[in-house]
Amino acid sequence: MMKTLVLSTALLLSALALAEGEVPYPDGYRTWNHVKSMVIKPGHALANPFQGIHHVYANDKALRGLRSGKYPDGAVLVFDLLHYVDKDAALTEGDRKLVGVMVRDRNRYRSTGGWGFEGFAGNSRVERLTSDGGASCFSCHQSQESQGYVFSQWRP
Ligand code: HEC
Repeated sequence: MMKTLVLSTALLLSALALAEGEVPYPDGYRTWNHVKSMVIKPGHALANPFQGIHHVYANDKALRGLRSGKYPDGAVLVFDLLHYVDKDAALTEGDRKLVGVMVRDRNRYRSTGGWGFEGFAGNSRVERLTSDGGASCFSCHQSQESQGYVFSQWRP
């Protein structure tokens, strides 16, 4: 009886979280597959808000997508953006600016190409940066429709 109660409460809670379509914080992404890195300097079209050094990570399902062009549900891509420090003729990592996330779920995120978009401020796992269901993120990623709305490409 108790077990059933606990289980149904857990199911109810996860159903509530799903109903909101919230993109979960990508726990553990720092040990996922590293796809690429890029430095964006002042003057670049994306400098506001993406100036800094960023690394792109893919979980295993997203790596399959990068290789085949088809992203299975459960694929997650992370855009880890840090300030850069320009010193002694070298650019090194500074504090984290934000963590951008794309989660593949074709049913839940139908209006944004089957991807859930979210940004997390700085080192926070709870301070969310979007308030439009990811529509503004998607409006830019839409240009990559032929690549599943993903800009990054896998280099062997
Ligand atoms: C004005 C255009 C633009 C907007 C708006 C934008 N992105 Fe991106 N995003 C890019 C570009 C360009 C890249 C590729 C960067 C690279 O090549 O390293 C990218 C890469 C990413 C990636 C890595 C996967 C990929 O597509 O390469 C994630 C995850 C991501 N963005 C999430 C977001 C989220 C979340 C938002 C909204 C909070 C957002 N993006 C808004 C242009 C945009």
